[in-house]
Amino acid sequence: MKVLEAISSRRSIRKFTGEPIDDRDLKTILKAGFQAPSAHNLEPREYVVVRDAEIIEKIVEFHGHAKMLPQAGCGIIVCGDKTKQDVFGFLISDCSASIQNILLAAHGLGLGAVWCGIYPREHLLEGTVNVLNLPEHIIPVGMVVVGVKDEKKSAIDRYNEDKIHYNRW
Ligand SMILES: Cc1cc2nc3c(=O)[nH]c(=O)nc-3n(C[C@H](O)[C@H](O)[C@H](O)COP(=O)(O)O)c2cc1C
Repeated sequence: MKVLEAISSRRSIRKFTGEPIDDRDLKTILKAGFQAPSAHNLEPREYVVVRDAEIIEKIVEFHGHAKMLPQAGCGIIVCGDKTKQDVFGFLISDCSASIQNILLAAHGLGLGAVWCGIYPREHLLEGTVNVLNLPEHIIPVGMVVVGVKDEKKSAIDRYNEDKIHYNRW
């Protein structure tokens, strides 16, 4: 799939067949995450891939907006390492760039994916840190739920000239 086509047709997918995704596809998706830009090129990102049913259930217990995770079968938690990037805003931006690459890669492979927010919700941060046993310097920013999709969504054109400002507001 061409990049512009992927960007314009990507949608959040929340219905999955339950079929596990291929390990090669998972690696391709993770590689896309690593390729994202980062401030000062510090690459302060770590990835926790969750496929274990028990851990998935524990995440669903506290994450009220990730109920599709068990059916998808795979969650990629993108985390920021505070020791690598001490400007917190950049850390969140770097992880977000990575998450978007992951979403597009999954879509490009014909899989379904949805970004489930973690940061800055306190209970989601706490739940994720506890379930994944994350060390103190690692901040879980978001989780990409990815799987074999069981729904089709059409593209939405969100382009809006009114929101574009040239040279000055
Ligand atoms: C920071 C962030 C957090 C999000 N959290 C969730 C979430 O917890 N659960 C969910 O189902 N979708 C979540 N979404 C997906 C949005 O609901 C979705 O991107 C938006 O409705 C636009 O739809 P689209 O992705 O199909 O274009 C999140 C998106 C972002 C950017």
